Amino acid sequence: PYRAPSAADLLAWYDRHRRDLPWRAAPGQARDPYRIWLSEVMLQQTTVAAVGPRYARFLARFPSVEALAAADWEEVAEEWAGLGYYARARNLHACARAVAAAGGFPSDTAGLSALPGIGRYTAAAVAAIAFDAPVVPVDGNVERVMARLHAVETPLPAAKARLSALAAAFMAEPAARARPGDFAQGLFDLGATLCTPRRPACALCPWQAGCAARAAGIAADLPRKAAR
Ligand code: ADE
Repeated sequence: PYRAPSAADLLAWYDRHRRDLPWRAAPGQARDPYRIWLSEVMLQQTTVAAVGPRYARFLARFPSVEALAAADWEEVAEEWAGLGYYARARNLHACARAVAAAGGFPSDTAGLSALPGIGRYTAAAVAAIAFDAPVVPVDGNVERVMARLHAVETPLPAAKARLSALAAAFMAEPAARARPGDFAQGLFDLGATLCTPRRPACALCPWQAGCAARAAGIAADLPRKAAR
């Protein structure tokens, strides 16, 4: 029988299956915005598996945003080596200096977006995960999950705004508003472990009974991509 996809069902699944990743605080533990921001910046260009060791090493060298702000650029560049674009490390350093000067990270998306190198996605991820602000960060995983759940046939990138709106709509639910950071990371984990690009494991999905693409037998075909 049909069962509407709810934030509560995703959160219950996340509580049982959440991946134990280095930047995830244990349930109920304090969340450090510096650690979350650093993980999100690293994850933008490097896989979860590859980020692990580099993340630990970076934090050992720069354990706080103040430590990173106080470091010379050469030290930061050296520690970033192999992690991709130097522009990103430049922004990372500039952002750390701005945050340290301000006395801490802003807790909302507007304040976060004003910082060097922080775009829409990173602002939403840090606001939700570190501060439980009621926003949903939308990356490729989240776009794929939303495209399938609602059988959105419009190809990417044209569908982006619609997919973002569908993700944001979950924040109308009290269960999502109670735990925005876990809701966001539940979506990431669903997209990375079950709702995968090629062979989605629909039989294990907490949203299988409400997924329009599964009902139509087209989950693996979505999202469609514009011909290029
Ligand atoms: N990808 C981007 N941010 C992530 C997070 N916090 N957990 C897992 N995968 C991610």
